[in-house]
Amino acid sequence: VTLSYRDFLTRYGSPLYVYELAEVRRAYATLRAALPMPSDLYYSVKANPHPLLVRELVALGCKPEASSSGELEVALAAAGDPAAILYTGPAKSRLEIELALRRGVRRFSVESPWDCAKVEAAAKRIGAVAEVLVRVNPEMSTRRTGLQMSGAVSQFGTDLNAITERSHAFESGGSVRVIGVHCYMGTNVMDVDALVEGFATALDSAVRAASALGISLQAIDLGGGFGHPFACRGMPCDIGALRPTLERLFDAYLPAWRHGEPRLSFESGRFLVAAAGTLIATVEDVKSSGGTRFVVLDTGINHLAGATSIGRTLRPEIEVMSLETGDLDPCRVAGPLCTPIDLLSSRARLPLGLKPGDPVWIPNVGAYGLSASLLAFLSRACPAELVLDEGIVREASRVEFGRIGLCL
Ligand SMILES: Cc1ncc(COP(=O)(O)O)c(C=O)c1O
Repeated sequence: VTLSYRDFLTRYGSPLYVYELAEVRRAYATLRAALPMPSDLYYSVKANPHPLLVRELVALGCKPEASSSGELEVALAAAGDPAAILYTGPAKSRLEIELALRRGVRRFSVESPWDCAKVEAAAKRIGAVAEVLVRVNPEMSTRRTGLQMSGAVSQFGTDLNAITERSHAFESGGSVRVIGVHCYMGTNVMDVDALVEGFATALDSAVRAASALGISLQAIDLGGGFGHPFACRGMPCDIGALRPTLERLFDAYLPAWRHGEPRLSFESGRFLVAAAGTLIATVEDVKSSGGTRFVVLDTGINHLAGATSIGRTLRPEIEVMSLETGDLDPCRVAGPLCTPIDLLSSRARLPLGLKPGDPVWIPNVGAYGLSASLLAFLSRACPAELVLDEGIVREASRVEFGRIGLCL
C-alpha cells in the first residue's frame, strides 16, 4: 500500500482521492445481509456521485436515490431503468421535476403540499402519472444521530400532525398517485439501538400518516442513517443484529410485509462508500508558531470536509497519517486556504521529521468527501479521483470547473 500511494501521487498528482470498489462490495454485502428481505436498498448518490461507484452499487442491486438534475444524470447512466430511481429532496424546481419525468423517473418523495402539487402539475404537462411518497416529519426524534433531520422543527418533510390535519393536501389525482410514505430520521447513527428506535418511529409515523391520508400503503421508505467513521480510523455501526429485530418490528406493524405489501425500502450513502475512499496528499510546509508545530498540506476544506468545517455542523478531528516512520509528535494540520478555518486537525500526531514533499493520507473519506467540500473556494484545481478494483487501477479522472457565457 505504501509504495502504491507514492506511485499514485507521482502519476496522477497531489492531492488525490482513491476509491477501492472491493470495499464498496464489502460494505454492500454487510448492509444487505443486515436488512430484512424483501426490501429495496437505495444508494443516496449525494454521498459520492462518482459514476463508477454508483454503477458498481447499481450492479450489486441498489436503486439510485437522486436529489438533483446532476445526480439524476449519474443515476440514469448507471441504472438503465429510470423507473428504479427515487427522486427526493427539498426545493425541487418545476423544471427539474419535469426533466426527471421526461427522462422516465416516476417515483418522487414529496416534502410538502406545494411539492406534491408541483409534481402533479409537471406530470400533467407531459401526460405522465407520477407515484409519490409523502415525506413525513415524525413527532419523535431519534437519539444519538450524527445529524438529526426529523422529529424536531425541520425544513424536511411535513409534520405528522399537519398531515393529519390537512390530509387532502396530498390527494391522488389524475396525474399523481399517493402510494406511500418516506421517513428519514438522521444521518450517521453509530448505535444500532438508536437505529432500531428510529425505524420504529418511522414505521409508526408511516402507518399513522397513511391512515390520515386514507391510502393503502404500497411503499414505505424507512430511510437509514447507518453510521461510519469519517476521515478517521474506526469501525462502522455494528448492524449484525439488525435484521431479526427489524423483522419482529415489521411483523408487529405490517402483517403482509413479507409478501411485499407494502414494499419496504431503506436508504444509505455513507455506510456503502465511506471505507472505499482515501485522500492522499502532500506536505507543503512545516513550521512553528508559539511553540506549536504546524504541518501545512496541499489539501484542506476545499477538498475534504468543507461542509463540516465551516462550523455549521459537526467539526471532526480529521486523522491525518504519514507514510514516514519515526517518533510521533503533536502538531496542527492545516490546509492550503487563506482562512484559519482550514484546519484539518488541531491535535494530530505526525513524525517529527516530516518535511515538505512527504505524502500523508486520510482514511474513510469515500462518503461526503470531495463533492461535499468547498471546491471552488480559492480556485484551486479539483484533485484527481482514482478508482481501483482489488488494487488494479480501473479509471482516473478529474472534475473540472469552467465558466460558460450566457446569451445576453
Ligand atoms: C433523505 C436522505 N436520504 C438519505 C441520505 C443519506 O444518508 P447517509 O449518507 O447517512 O446514509 C440523506 C442524507 O442526508 C438524506 O437526507
